[in-house]
Amino acid sequence: MHSIARLIEEVRGIKVPLEAVGLTIHFRDRDREIERFFTDVIKYRGVSLIFGPRGAGKSTLAKVLEEGVRKIEDFNDLVFVRYTFEEETIRETQVRVPGLGLDVIRELEDIASVNVGMDPITLGIKLIRPVTVLARALRNHGLRGKRVIVVYDDIDRFLRRYGGYEMLEAVANKIPDVIREHDVWVKALFTVSDQAAINVVRKLGSKGGMRVYLLWNLPKQAFVEVVNEVAELTGAGDVDVELLWNLLGGNMREFETLVGYGWDYRRWVERQAIMRVIDTFRTYQEEQGLGSINDVLVRLIEKGKAAASSYGLGEFTGQPDAVEGFFNLLRENIMIYLGLPGLEALSEMPSEPWVGRDFAYQIPAYYWVIKAMVKLGRINITPEEVLDMINHVRE
Ligand SMILES: Nc1ncnc2c1ncn2[C@@H]1O[C@H](COP(=O)(O)OP(=O)(O)O)[C@@H](O)[C@H]1O
Ligand SMILES: [Mg+2]
Repeated sequence: MHSIARLIEEVRGIKVPLEAVGLTIHFRDRDREIERFFTDVIKYRGVSLIFGPRGAGKSTLAKVLEEGVRKIEDFNDLVFVRYTFEEETIRETQVRVPGLGLDVIRELEDIASVNVGMDPITLGIKLIRPVTVLARALRNHGLRGKRVIVVYDDIDRFLRRYGGYEMLEAVANKIPDVIREHDVWVKALFTVSDQAAINVVRKLGSKGGMRVYLLWNLPKQAFVEVVNEVAELTGAGDVDVELLWNLLGGNMREFETLVGYGWDYRRWVERQAIMRVIDTFRTYQEEQGLGSINDVLVRLIEKGKAAASSYGLGEFTGQPDAVEGFFNLLRENIMIYLGLPGLEALSEMPSEPWVGRDFAYQIPAYYWVIKAMVKLGRINITPEEVLDMINHVRE
C-alpha cells in the first residue's frame, strides 16, 4: 500500500485527549491534510507555518503525524522534534530521536528552558538552537541521511507576551540561513492561531521562502462522528448535531467548552459567542472614542451595506466578505483572513454562509450573533434570538 495511505490508517487508531472534559476520543479524518502535508508542506526544506482557528486541531495533527510516522518503516528517514509552547514556557519537548548521542539530546532539551525572564537576544538564540544542533547532527554521525522536522507548536502563545512577534519574524528569517549554510534537510514548522502573528510574519513572504498553510476546523462528517462519540461517552441523549455544526463548525476546542457546560448550548452561546463579540466591539469603541457600543454596530451596518452592495452580495446579513474583519473582528480572532498572498488551504473549506472568499468567521456562532445584531439593530441580543437565526435558515 501507498505509504501515506498506510499512515492515514495508522493515525485512525490513535486516541486524543479532550482535556477539558477528561475524555479520550478517536482521532478523526484529516486525510486530505495528511496527504498534503507530505506532497506540499514538507516537499522542500526551510520554514513553513500552519495557521488556523484556535482549536481547529493544529497541535493534534502535528502530534499524530509524529506518532504515526514513528511506527511506519517507509518513513524511517523522517524525524520529528516537537516543542509545545505555553504562555510562559515550553510545556512539552518531544525529543525521542534514535541514533542521537546523549549530549545532542541534552542540547535539544535545553531549549525547553526558555522563559519569560530572558533577554531578546538570548531568547532568539535559544529558539534557533534546535535547528543549529540538528543541522550539525545531520552532518555528523547521528542523523546522516535523515530529514528533520522541528515543530514550534503554538509559538505565538509564548511570543504574544514575551519577545513579540518580531521575534518570530527574526527566527523565521534566520533559520533558512542556517539550513543553507549547513546544506542539510531541515523543516521548521510553526503553528500559530493569532492573526496578529500572521500579519508580522507575512512581511517575510517569499523572501525567506516561508510558506503559510491554512488548517480549518473539522469537516462536517468528522465533526458529527466526534459529537456522537462524546455524546455516547457522556451519556448525553438527544443531541442536535445539525445545530451543533451550525454553532461550532467543527471547532474542537469550543466543542470541549460546550461539553464542559454540560451541553447547555444556550449558556455557551451567551458566554462564548455573544459576549466575545461584544467584548471585541468594546475594544473598538474605546479605541475610537465612540459614545456607546451601539455606535459600533451602527458603523458595522453602514460599512457592511456599502460593501455588500458594491461586491454584489445582496442584502447585508453579516456576510464575512462584507464585514471584512473590521471593528477589531480580525485582530481579536473572531474572523480570519483567507486572502493572504501565497496562503494555501490544507483543508477543504466548507461551503457555508460563515465562510467567504477572503474572510471567514472562525466559528459559525459568531456569524449568527452578528447576523442577529444586524437584523435586530441592537447589541443586546439573547441566545434565543441567535438560535432563531439558525432555525430560520434551516426551515
Ligand atoms: N482530528 C481530530 N479528531 C478528534 N479530536 C481532535 C482532532 N483534532 C483535534 N482534536 C481535539 O480538539 C482539541 C483542540 O485541538 P488542538 O490540536 O489543541 O487545536 P489547535 O492546536 O489548533 O488550537 C484537542 O482536545 C484535540 O484532542
Ligand atoms: Mg495548538
